[in-house]
Amino acid sequence: MRILLTGGAGFIGSAVTRLLVLEKAATVLVVDKLTYAGDRRSLRDCEGKPGFAFEQADICDLPRMRALMAEFRPDAVMHLAAESHVDRSITGAADFIQTNINGTFAMLEAARAYHAALEPAARSAFRFHHISTDEVFGSLGPTGAFSETTAYDPRSPYSASKAASDHLVRAWHETYGLPVLVTNCSNNYGPYHFPEKLIPLIILNALDGKPLPVYGDGSNIRDWLYVEDHARALVTVVERGKVGETYCIGGRSERRNLEVVQTICDLLDQRVQAARPRRELITFVADRPGHDQRYAIDCGKIERELGWKQRESFETGIAATIDWYLANGWWWQPLREKKYSGERLGLLAAAERQEASVKVG
Ligand code: NAD
Ligand code: TYD
Repeated sequence: MRILLTGGAGFIGSAVTRLLVLEKAATVLVVDKLTYAGDRRSLRDCEGKPGFAFEQADICDLPRMRALMAEFRPDAVMHLAAESHVDRSITGAADFIQTNINGTFAMLEAARAYHAALEPAARSAFRFHHISTDEVFGSLGPTGAFSETTAYDPRSPYSASKAASDHLVRAWHETYGLPVLVTNCSNNYGPYHFPEKLIPLIILNALDGKPLPVYGDGSNIRDWLYVEDHARALVTVVERGKVGETYCIGGRSERRNLEVVQTICDLLDQRVQAARPRRELITFVADRPGHDQRYAIDCGKIERELGWKQRESFETGIAATIDWYLANGWWWQPLREKKYSGERLGLLAAAERQEASVKVG
């Protein structure tokens, strides 16, 4: 399979690229702008391998996307490029609107023209796979779970921009017959996760003996999935998913944020001795504005229809993740020193300061 994959220098995109290039012998062209969140070092294992190519480009650049599709001639597009951090979307949503909405529009338009010009056999085999999040469904109370039929109810600038992109993708299917697949996944964790997100931030702050910020009272719940299990689900969907369908992907591993942070503290204490138990570093801080209370996914459809099942439990996955961060300082140390050292993001005061500088259009 020839796959044009956007966002391949990011956390999930690099895991999918490694799976495709190293295990599936696929030919992959990674298209990535290399924003603060993209890092070619995350693709180190693929560099120089037959079937791997990298192009630094912005998905919003429609002529460039058209040219790349015409030159590379993909069997499928896997679209992962996005601005992905809720807290940054609160401070300033402009990049989220631009990349997640306009960028998806450009990818759809490029794919539509490319698909229309294909020979019949290639035309019927082509797939446009849009990778999205469960956050488009909003926030759950104490019971229930999101599924493919849940109504959209996004509540953060990030999830609203992803919801908009999902709607565009489905509209391009209904209106133009573009053969699309949509997946909505729960929170991922694992190697090469940029240390602005909860799990890597807590691991690295805990190693440094810094405060471990827990928003609100730590009772918010996320459903955690190991990133390599998500990568296998995505490859399963692009290979065997039914055109026009949505698949929800989740980890069946709901945990309260405080529990996640405590687990990381205990596992680190077992591995690297500290003067005091790391749980003492836990600090409750001001809550995130509009903080969604609970996410949970019913992933029965992809399990039943496509035979996908996660391999890692939260316990094995979090241990593997901690061991990876302990062994791979070469990857995260430069990021903590030069790109993001762990300061609080997403408070309203910062959003108000940004307001003055926002230009629309
Ligand atoms: P990430 O922030 O780690 O990586 C995003 C990548 O996209 C980076 O390499 C970045 O350079 C690239 N990018 C950003 N803007 C671009 C642009 N305009 N043009 C080209 N490239 C650009 O994100 P991630 O966590 O790997 O998420 C990947 C996808 O999966 C996103 O679409 C996200 O919404 C979705 N998703 C993420 C999670 C999660 O838990 N991280 C869960 C479900 C779905
Ligand atoms: P995050 O990793 O940002 O993912 P998302 O917001 O997409 O779910 O956050 C996961 C949860 O952890 C979320 O409920 C917010 C919370 N959180 C903290 O308590 N402290 C932190 O420093 C961060 C970054 C997140």
